[in-house]
Amino acid sequence: MKDHQNVISSHAAAMPSRDRRGYPGAANVMHKDCPACHDQHHLGKGLTMIIRECRESDLPLLELHIPSGRNRTHEVHFHRQQQGLSTFQTAWIDDVPVGFGEVRWRGCAAAEAHERYPDCPELNGLSVWPPQRQSHGIGTAIIHATEALAAQRGYRHIGLGVDDKNHRAATLYLRLGHQETGCRYLDRYHRIDDHGIRQEVANPCRFLIKPLQNMDDQRFSR
Ligand SMILES: CC(C)(COP(=O)(O)OP(=O)(O)OC[C@H]1O[C@@H](n2cnc3c(N)ncnc32)[C@H](O)[C@@H]1OP(=O)(O)O)[C@@H](O)C(=O)NCCC(=O)NCCS
Repeated sequence: MKDHQNVISSHAAAMPSRDRRGYPGAANVMHKDCPACHDQHHLGKGLTMIIRECRESDLPLLELHIPSGRNRTHEVHFHRQQQGLSTFQTAWIDDVPVGFGEVRWRGCAAAEAHERYPDCPELNGLSVWPPQRQSHGIGTAIIHATEALAAQRGYRHIGLGVDDKNHRAATLYLRLGHQETGCRYLDRYHRIDDHGIRQEVANPCRFLIKPLQNMDDQRFSR
């Protein structure tokens, strides 16, 4: 892991780049045989996507292309990663962020799920943006990348919560091998609205889990 981080750092230092709007780029340069460059995905139509851990230098680009407004969500995710609580996976096409998902290593924050699955990391906040990028396999690739990460760390399962109203996302997760647990809870969080007012949210959702494949067989089916 340390070596991987070092490789990433040296990439960032060695390859300053600019995105197509002229903003400092994320240095998503792929190197042959480089361990930091493994998670490269071909989406068709000549598009290549890279999935990797968020770096501090990514935060302005994430906010620019996937604005989180007053919630500063990307900073919050990155801060948790810095504390070792999570891994903030980000997906990039042409040095532009197109999605992300956070693996929370301590599992689901809701007591109902955490007590039942204490040793099960959770994929949280999966998102593909902008909407035109959805339904092209990006979400699936992020899911697979987070599963591989959890399997590498020796976990046997990964879980996630899905909102009762989010039928399309639930369909995707079930198609990719997640299983119903019967565990239900209120997903509680707060958001700052456009007027700067804190809004408390409590969405009914259900917890799904997926058994992870052995590290010797990292082939996932779509
Ligand atoms: C859910 C989401 C991350 C999936 O990423 P994606 O790149 O669109 O997913 P893929 O292309 O790999 O798979 C497409 C499938 O995702 C599911 N899906 C869920 N929400 C979707 C959406 N808003 N648009 C398109 N597909 C969606 C469908 O099952 C879809 O299959 P279909 O194209 O046959 O209908 C993405 O659509 C998204 O960001 N949605 C809004 C935020 C969200 O709901 N996050 C999930 C929180 S649990």
